Amino acid sequence: MRTFTSYLRVLFILTIVFILAEYFIDSGDIPAFIKYPQVSLFLGLFAVLLIGLEVMIAAMNSVTRAISPQVDLEHQKENEFTWFKKIVDKLMDSAPLEKEAEIIMDHNYDGIQELDNTLPPWWKYGFYATIVFAIIYMVRFEILGADNQYVELEKEVAAATIAIEQYRKTAKDLIDAENVVLLTEASDLKAGEGIYNTLCVACHRMDGGGGIGPNLTDEYWILGGGIKNIFNTISEGGRSGKGMVSWKQSLKPSEIQQVASYVMSLSANNPADGKAPEGDIWNNDSAALE
Ligand code: HEC
Repeated sequence: MRTFTSYLRVLFILTIVFILAEYFIDSGDIPAFIKYPQVSLFLGLFAVLLIGLEVMIAAMNSVTRAISPQVDLEHQKENEFTWFKKIVDKLMDSAPLEKEAEIIMDHNYDGIQELDNTLPPWWKYGFYATIVFAIIYMVRFEILGADNQYVELEKEVAAATIAIEQYRKTAKDLIDAENVVLLTEASDLKAGEGIYNTLCVACHRMDGGGGIGPNLTDEYWILGGGIKNIFNTISEGGRSGKGMVSWKQSLKPSEIQQVASYVMSLSANNPADGKAPEGDIWNNDSAALE
């Protein structure tokens, strides 16, 4: 077989085996040859074997050539693909038509006769393969109790559900004005206070009494009270030209939630010298967006 140079052939066969392994071995997102070192080991050994085989063939060829240089070309032509022809012959082996007379059995039922031909070897080997498969299958699933596909599915779904929950818990940045809830944990309020004292005091005063910005401690809100409106105001900013900018570029949604929750806790301060109320009384029962 000279159509392929040998390094190409090795590469080709190895690639096919590699692709098959990756396709059939369930290793999740990680490639099988990384997740299971045995797979890499197997591929490595297989490569060594292939290369060894090539070296042997090459050595044998050069020996043949050295012994009979003249017949070389001729010889090689007629020997092309012999291994393939041999395999085909082996798999298709059965008595040819001309030899039917030799294998015909001596019984005769109303003219119907029987040939004692061999089973087609390709079929027989296929049958053996199913037996081997059945044994492996039985040992794996019935005796060793490996998971069947239903159990595998259930396990993967359960794992995925946990992963989603985990993601929801940690990915606070899924919060928006529609689904935001008031935080009451001391740690969250503390974080909110930290943000407020750095970014907001200049206009709203330390205690929320108001200055350039409106009083955040009274019940009156220009842009709507309640956690959702406050979140929205901080995220998107106030009316244009008033001085309250949008903070969503500099604060994460989770941080806006914290500072909004802190702003809502400011009403407890109720400073006597706070700025006069602006806007309308906000009815706390309604948590809708303005
Ligand atoms: C540059 C000054 C300034 C800064 C800094 C500032 N604000 Fe404001 N804030 C304002 C002004 C002015 C308004 C009124 C906006 C309007 O009338 O539309 C306002 C409005 C608000 C309102 C709505 C009040 C209402 O009555 O509806 C909230 C809540 C608020 N700010 C929170 C914050 C928070 C939290 C920060 C810090 C992240 C902050 N502000 C930083 C000036 C500021």
